[in-house]
Amino acid sequence: MKILLDCDPGVDDALTLLHLAPLIASGEVDLVAVGTVHGNVAPDVGALNALRVLERAGLRDIPVAVGAGRPMAQPVAFASEWHGTDGLGETHLPEPAGRPAEISAPDQIVRLARRHPGELTLLAIGPLTNLGIALLLEPSLPELFREVVIMGGAFDHPGNITGHAEANIWHDPEAAELVLGAGWPITLVPLDVTHATALDGEWLDRLAAGEGEIARLAARVLEFYVNAYHRSLGVRGAVIHDALAAMLAIDPSLGDYTERPVRVELRGDRTRGATLWDRRRYADEGDRPPVKVAVRVDVAAFRERLLASLL
Ligand code: BDR
Ligand code: CA
Repeated sequence: MKILLDCDPGVDDALTLLHLAPLIASGEVDLVAVGTVHGNVAPDVGALNALRVLERAGLRDIPVAVGAGRPMAQPVAFASEWHGTDGLGETHLPEPAGRPAEISAPDQIVRLARRHPGELTLLAIGPLTNLGIALLLEPSLPELFREVVIMGGAFDHPGNITGHAEANIWHDPEAAELVLGAGWPITLVPLDVTHATALDGEWLDRLAAGEGEIARLAARVLEFYVNAYHRSLGVRGAVIHDALAAMLAIDPSLGDYTERPVRVELRGDRTRGATLWDRRRYADEGDRPPVKVAVRVDVAAFRERLLASLL
């Protein structure tokens, strides 16, 4: 399958690239390009991180384009307390050999969609600004993608930035509202399912025992993030949200889904950035197209597949 990845690396974004690497090497996945967006770090920092991680995994020919540096209608904010100031858990890895592509990430989305109509899965694991801009640039974009898989949102689950808002939506609610209403075939992977897959101390020990270069890199990048979880929740563990979205994009049979219209709250004093789904069985007011939302996933399979790919 052909994947176009939009990301903000970011510890769990980096782990997702490492998870994809063996699938790319074996030909199961064709990662046609990567774009970066503000979110965990600035997009130019994220692009160098994507190149760093891809190069460590032996992947040197995948274009990485820099995208939007700020959200559509609010100030930019980064997540250095979770991902480190460098986005890779304060590992400060050496500069990559490669450089970002000349094209911007939204332009790259449009160009590749036109080049591969109906073939690409757009996997978005950061804020949705690049996707929103691409929709404005090319109104027929929704017909050009096979599927759009998004890590984002929280429904019957608290947010992770505010009590109600999940980070990827909170970083650019206007873009998310545009993307979720655009009418393309979306699968949303919210905190409700990513939190259920939290890795525990035993999983982290098994990774730490791995002797390969990728396992060692993953363990090193994860350390700061694991410490942030420990500070915040008092347990040793981590949630690799973005890797679950990648896994469901590749193998949807790992999840159960419901189809609902989803809107983003744009105005609430305490609820801006919250995702709201309409539980009614009859049509949503305003004909908002329903999207697929993952509601249950095979947690054991996620943990084992992620570990196996890193080992
Ligand atoms: C999402 O926010 C980011 O911090 C993570 O990389 C993930 O994409 C989880 O809410
Ligand atoms: Ca991310």
